Amino acid sequence: MPEFNHQPVLLAEVLSALRPGPGGRFADGTLGGAGHAAAILAASSPTGWLYGCDRDGVAVEVAKKRLAEKFGGRFDVRRGNYSELAEWVPERSCDGVLLDLGVSSPQVDTPERGFSFQQDGPLDMRMDDRQTLTAADLVNGESAEALAKIFWEYGGERESRRFARALAHDRESRKFATTRQLAKLIERLAPRAGKKAHPATKVFQALRIAVNDEIGSLRAGLEAAVKLLKPGGRLAVITFHSLEDRVVKEFGRARSRDYTFPGPVDVPELREPRVPDLKWVERKAIRPGAEELRMNPRARSAQLRVLERVGAE
Ligand SMILES: C[S@@+](CC[C@H](N)C(=O)[O-])C[C@H]1O[C@@H](n2cnc3c(N)ncnc32)[C@H](O)[C@@H]1O
Repeated sequence: MPEFNHQPVLLAEVLSALRPGPGGRFADGTLGGAGHAAAILAASSPTGWLYGCDRDGVAVEVAKKRLAEKFGGRFDVRRGNYSELAEWVPERSCDGVLLDLGVSSPQVDTPERGFSFQQDGPLDMRMDDRQTLTAADLVNGESAEALAKIFWEYGGERESRRFARALAHDRESRKFATTRQLAKLIERLAPRAGKKAHPATKVFQALRIAVNDEIGSLRAGLEAAVKLLKPGGRLAVITFHSLEDRVVKEFGRARSRDYTFPGPVDVPELREPRVPDLKWVERKAIRPGAEELRMNPRARSAQLRVLERVGAE
């Protein structure tokens, strides 16, 4: 099995949000290297239980092996999308659910997975290799307009149209097959001069989100996660960019309000009462402290939001 090193982010904060203790039941929808999962099982010894999944087959194998070494018989780990958790985890059975979104370090650091613009690899970006759609399919097959929309909506790339037009022009002579080929095109269009981030950062993020339908999974996953929670149980979500964070924030706001409104705008006269099923544990997002950022620069954009299920047993 290849080396698999992922430093869990905001670990102490996740534990204090989920409060694992003996006999507690938890679900981790994004197991990765099982860093958070192992800490949850350790803190809920000797009788705590964990349901876990990841859509990445390598992560699932690593997580199973790591958890089995210390916590044999106290977990059920399956490969799959966290949006499907409610199909196999009993409803209202969990004291806490964790979603630690985005990619793991081994995914980014393995060039063959095609997530990195720093190292050369196939233009792939699939978290789940059973899926057929790859980044190369989007880059070579979508219209310039559709690609510009992806770069803008999922990457916030201001040059989305210019990049997409240039890409559509270049692929007429040679299809895009590798990560460096795409990164070089963006470097040519937007030289780095003094900028901190690589110019292809946003384009790569946008393609990754599109290939893996990350926003669709997140919306469905939040709904699923709430179904798993007992009243008083908590949902902890770690996001890594503003688009994800906005989805979590809007979900929390809508579910913690005591009214709904038809359409996209809240018109007070049209409000209808509803019983909220969630409340915020903290109003503000929790961010890594200076010490964690020093030890793990990849935590720099992480934000944790915590919601609690309310309502009768
Ligand atoms: C940031 S890593 C999680 C790291 C983990 N918490 C740890 O301590 O090692 C994110 C993981 O979520 C997985 N993932 C992302 N979206 C997913 C989804 N919709 N369903 C299941 N797993 C997903 C990725 O494959 C990746 O392994």
